[in-house]
This record gives sequence, C-alpha cells and structure tokens, in this order.
Amino acid sequence: MRFHVRTALVALAATALATLSRAENVIDLTPENFAQVIDGSKPALVEFFAPWCGHCKNLAPTYEDLATTYLPHKDDVIIAKVDADKHKELGQKFGVSGFPTIKWFPKGSTTPEDYSGGRDLDDFVQFINNKAGLKVKPKKIVAPTDVLVLDATNFDEEVIESDANVLVEFYAPWCGHCKNLAPTYAKLASTFKTEKNCRVANFDATTSQSIPGRYGVQGYPTIKFFAKGQKDAPEDYNGGRSEEDFVRFLNEKCGTQRAAGGGLTEDAGLIPELDAIIADFVKASKAEKAKLLSKAKSIAEKTKTKFADYYVKALEKSHAAADYASKEFERLDRMLQRPAAQEQKDNMSIRRNILKVFQRDV
Ligand SMILES: *[C@@H]1O[C@H](CO)[C@@H](O)[C@H](O)[C@H]1NC(C)=O
Repeated sequence: MRFHVRTALVALAATALATLSRAENVIDLTPENFAQVIDGSKPALVEFFAPWCGHCKNLAPTYEDLATTYLPHKDDVIIAKVDADKHKELGQKFGVSGFPTIKWFPKGSTTPEDYSGGRDLDDFVQFINNKAGLKVKPKKIVAPTDVLVLDATNFDEEVIESDANVLVEFYAPWCGHCKNLAPTYAKLASTFKTEKNCRVANFDATTSQSIPGRYGVQGYPTIKFFAKGQKDAPEDYNGGRSEEDFVRFLNEKCGTQRAAGGGLTEDAGLIPELDAIIADFVKASKAEKAKLLSKAKSIAEKTKTKFADYYVKALEKSHAAADYASKEFERLDRMLQRPAAQEQKDNMSIRRNILKVFQRDV
C-alpha cells in the first residue's frame, strides 16, 4: 500500500517536472533582462501575453513546443515571452494593445516587426526558419498517453500473439475525425490501463502498407476489435464515439466493469448470491445471522470469485458490530479521495461496493 502510494506520487512529481521543464524552454523577459537578451546579436520571437487572456492560454502549448523545437538552436534564435500585464512598460514600449501580440526582432536590430502568420507550430517554424535561415523540423511534444502504440514491427506480437483482447484504431495523422477522437481515445486507454486483458491501441496507417492492407483498412479512423481466441477475424467497431460508448463495448467484450472517466462501476465485484445473503442478514435475528454467516462461508468456498472472502469478512465483522459496514464504507470512501495506484483503488472500490449492499433498501 505505502509502496503504491509512493509510486503514484513519484509519477505525479515526474509529470509535473516534465511540464515545468518544457515551459521553461520559453525565455521569460522582464524589464531587468530585456535589453540584455534582445540585444540584436540573435534574432528573437517574442510573445506579449497576459495571464488572463484565453487566446494566450490556447497558444501556450504550441509556444512551448516551439521553444522546444529551437532549443538545440538557442545560439541562433531566441523564443521568449513577456507578461505584458505585469510589465506594462514593456508592452507600451513596443505598442502592444491586444493579447497575444507576437513580434519578431531581426538579427542586428532591436526594432521589431509584427508577426501576423498562423498560430500552428508549423506556421511559426516556417516563419522562423525563413527569417533566420534555418532548416529546423517542428518538434511536437505530444502528451504521453496510455494508448498502446502499434506499428508494423510490434503488431503481431502485441495483437495477434498476445492473450489480451485489443481494440485497434487505424488512423492517419492528417485525418480530422481521428484528431477529434484522440482525446476520447486517450481517456479510454487510461480507463483500461490496468486491465491486462483489454488493451486500447492505435496504429498510424501511413507508416505501413502491409498491416492495414491485411485488414482492408480504407478510411480513417477504422476501429477494429481483436478478440482473444479470434485474432484472425477482428470485428469492426461501428458504435458511437463517446467514451461511454467505447467503455460499454469493451466491458461487454472483455467482461470488465470499468466506468467512463476511470475507476469501476458501482456493481463491480458484486456476487448476487452473496448480495442476497446480506439482504437477509441485515434484517435477521442474532441466531439467524449466525446461520446466514455459515451459509455465506460455504458459498464463498464454492464461488472462488476474487472478493468472495471479503463478503465473509464483512459479514463476520458486522455480526460483531452492527455499524461496521457503514463505518468501513465511509473510511474507504475517504481513502478513495486520495492518490493511490489504480490496482489499490480498484480493490478499495470493490470493497466499498460490497459494504454498500448492507445499506440497500430492501
Ligand atoms: C485487497 O486489499 C486488501 C488490503 O490491502 C488485501 O488484503 C486483499 O488481499 C486485496 N484483495 C484482492 C482480491 O486483491
């Protein structure tokens, strides 16, 4: 338990650090360092922004990618920004009246020209390469996701030869519907990341002819489900494109109990035969309770379902203290608000689901 929490925290810290270091690639200009940095020795692109400006926030990831792109060329060109709300004098000096305002300071000059090009990474890179005489390729730092990335070298191993069910999206980088699906697909992968039996994968179909050709992929995205034991005949996914639609489909196909948005459904892990015992137990007399407890034990021995023993434990504890289930339910509920490894959270969610059966209206 402690180990899992620590792992989760380390992972969180690592993510935060990665984000930070990426943001730091954009040089922050202030009245103190401006003249020193923008001295004409190197050309510079400077964004004048305000912290409250929505367009600036939308631009921020692209601008960070831009700085990362030119990081290996930081002796040839500067990518910088000015908080012109905080440092109004700098904004005024360069006639900034709206946000974001982007200006290009050519080499040998401290008098800028306006940047009025597009706001995609490619637009900026083309502009800077052109102005600075560079031939740098745009570098997009795509946020890492839990999607299993397939290509011609690992497809057979990860899909055909694997024991897991695998959902595969064949996409093309230029396809608009694929781009629209990407955030949902990333969430889906995150929701299923601990289900070893049910994997969420994608394949950039422009990188290989053979694999997409094998499955007759013609349009994008094409989504196919490769069921365990039937890998040679994948099923087309023609369902809806919301996370709920995909989650319902995978739960049905994989026998999982995942909830859209992450975690487990409220009936995950429940065993109806034992739920019925609990329903009787909560209304029973002391003597009847003892009988129901031994009945539960014999069912648990037979079912061999993962959490059957927990039913017995919860019944035993409730037999000893009537408020056990409600107190333990609340404790787990609080624990579930805190960061923990997904496996640990799943375990707690199922125990909470079982305890909730004690509070069902009958
Ligand atoms: C769930 O977690 C508890 C406490 O950490 C542990 O004792 C139990 O074995 C786990 N149950 C399952 C089925 O993994």
